[in-house]
Amino acid sequence: MEFKPCKVVVLISGNGSNLQAIVDASCTSNYVVEAVISNKADVFGLQRAESANIKTQILDHRNFSSRVEFDLALRKLIDPYQPDLLVLAGFMRILSADFVQHYAGRTLNIHPSLLPKFPGINTHQRAIDAGESKHGASVHFVSEELDGGPVIAHAKIDILATDSANELRARIALKEHQLYPFVVDLFASGRLEMLNNKAILDSEILSSTGIDFSELTK
Ligand code: GAR
Repeated sequence: MEFKPCKVVVLISGNGSNLQAIVDASCTSNYVVEAVISNKADVFGLQRAESANIKTQILDHRNFSSRVEFDLALRKLIDPYQPDLLVLAGFMRILSADFVQHYAGRTLNIHPSLLPKFPGINTHQRAIDAGESKHGASVHFVSEELDGGPVIAHAKIDILATDSANELRARIALKEHQLYPFVVDLFASGRLEMLNNKAILDSEILSSTGIDFSELTK
C-alpha cells in the first residue's frame, strides 16, 4: 500500500523557530508541512518557510472586524490543503469556539510552561516570581479553553537561582525544538489521538501531565 504522510499546516505569528525544528525533522518523520500561514506579514517564520519551499500565506487579523470573521477566513485558507493536523507554533491568537471545534482532535499547540501552570503570557518571569524550581514547555491538544486542552508531553528544566526570564526562555526554546517535532511525529504515526478531551497514546490515556519528555531524552 502506498505510504501517505500526514499533511500538516502550521500557523505562526513570528520568529518560527519551532516551525524550523518541525520542518528540519520532517525528512526523517511521517509528516509533510504543506503550508505555513501567518497572521503577521514580515515575520521571520515566513522567510524560513519560503527557504524550505513551503507555501506561505498571510492573513492579517487587523483586516477583520471580529475574531469570528477572521477565524472563518482562516478556515477558508487552511481547508483546501486538507490537513490531517494543524500545528500552532507561536500563533498568538485566541481561537473562537467554532474554529476549535472544526479542527478538534487534530490541532496541537506548544506553550512555554508546564501546563496547567502558567497559561497565558510572560510565563518565564511568572515562574521565577513564583519561586518555582522547574519550568518548561508543554505540547497539548487544543480545546476551547486557552492553553487548556489535554497535555501530551512536558519538557522540564531546572530554574537556576541566577536565571533571568530571557535566559530561561532561551534554554526552554532548545527543549521546545526537540519536543514539538517528536509529538508531531507521534500524531503522524497514528499513535496519538484525543478522545473525550483526553490525550491517548498507543491506546492508553495519558496522565494529566502527559509524557515526561525530559526522562525520555536523558
Ligand atoms: C514559543 O516559545 C512557544 O512556546 C510560544 O511562542 C514561542 C514561539 O517561538 N507560544 C506561546 O506562548 C503560545 N501560548 P517561535 O516563533 O520561535 O517558534
